[in-house]
Amino acid sequence: MRTQVAIIGGGPAGLFLAHLLRASGVESVVLESRNRAYVEGRVRAGVLEQTTVNAMRRLGIGGRVAREGLIHSGTNLALDGRIFHVNFGELAAGSAVTVYGQSEVMRDLNEAADRNGMRILYEAQNVLPHAIQTTQPFVTWTSTDTPHRLECDFVIGCDGFHGVSRACIPPGAVTSFERAYPFAWLGILADVPPCNHELIYANHERGFALASMRSPTRSRYYLQCSLDDRIEDWSDERFWDELCARLGDSAAAKVTRGKSFEKTIAPLRSFVCVPLRWGRLFLAGDAAHIVPPTGAKGLNLAVADAILLSEALAKCYAQSSMTGLDDYSQRALERVWKAQRFSSWLTKLTHRFPQMDGFDRAMQIAELEHLSNSRAAQAAFAENYIGLPLV
Ligand code: FAD
Ligand code: PHB
Repeated sequence: MRTQVAIIGGGPAGLFLAHLLRASGVESVVLESRNRAYVEGRVRAGVLEQTTVNAMRRLGIGGRVAREGLIHSGTNLALDGRIFHVNFGELAAGSAVTVYGQSEVMRDLNEAADRNGMRILYEAQNVLPHAIQTTQPFVTWTSTDTPHRLECDFVIGCDGFHGVSRACIPPGAVTSFERAYPFAWLGILADVPPCNHELIYANHERGFALASMRSPTRSRYYLQCSLDDRIEDWSDERFWDELCARLGDSAAAKVTRGKSFEKTIAPLRSFVCVPLRWGRLFLAGDAAHIVPPTGAKGLNLAVADAILLSEALAKCYAQSSMTGLDDYSQRALERVWKAQRFSSWLTKLTHRFPQMDGFDRAMQIAELEHLSNSRAAQAAFAENYIGLPLV
């Protein structure tokens, strides 16, 4: 088999890239290790920046997100139950984010891929890139024990944090920067109406809580939990009680309890690989960088990488020029570091850290008080939350 661009991983980064390349007349094949139901079933992200929604529209897959996505022109922060609102619309000229689940985005991408006859190969096992430092790289894999080989011009690693692409780069060829956080997020989904029409990010003595949603009848809630907590430790009843305690009385009064149908624990991490390239292998999305989910940036960064990389690859084929590809890593990383800064700042501002003393707590309180009544501080928050411009 031969193609122009081999894409490893069929999550948001891989599928956006495949669609964007197709729109520019560049051929690709996506190799995904899991099956389609798994990829579409992962709950994960819920907040889309306008840049992401615009990309969906340009690709002709913006219909459902426009109909079903919830436009949020603001968000809420809470300090020990006292809630204040940040109005993006007022602070950043009519801006908003769209609440629409990652699994819906994946469904839209996959259905369009079916319609367009795109090549996405599921359940590709033992995927491995080869000859990356030559002009004729190739990728091998097996499916039901049959070996396959795909020759290509470039390999793009879109296979998430635990994928094979970054792992195959020799030590010393890239540098990793990393922070692991001393807590995790326990997330649930329940078919109950959300407690508020916009999100609430709550800092509480007892730990962080987040009230989010997927639709007017489906709620998504998160609680900061300990890294060694297990799902079995958290009955629905314990979850709802803890959520209500952390959100405070006014929001708790509007929480509708119900049976959860999804419960997962995810550790939090900040990670950046520099540069996002080794020879003809380029990294995009979580394969290249991870942000803690507090800023709702991960999927949006994956889409931003896919946009920059598709432009660079399109330029390479149209003008026989490598300059776009040579610049990709630096262009992408400039924005990635800013999203890292925002995500880690918001995580530190809203979570309870094990070693926190009275001074650290007083700093959180002072910063949240400042944010609650400073228009300048809120404008900076809004600018980052809605997503910095792609340059
Ligand atoms: P992934 O989604 O990890 O996709 C990688 C794909 O590669 C997977 O399908 C995997 O099966 C495949 N793969 C792995 N290894 C191999 C291999 N060896 N061979 C072939 N295929 C392979 N982001 C936001 O923007 N907004 C949010 O509100 C938000 N909320 C989040 C909440 C939680 C609880 C979590 C955990 C994440 C959240 N994120 C959010 C982050 C977002 O989900 C990720 O950043 C996003 O999924 C990254 O997409 P990706 O395609 O780079 O990687
Ligand atoms: C979500 O709805 O899953 C969600 C929302 C906001 C975040 C993270 C996750 O910051």
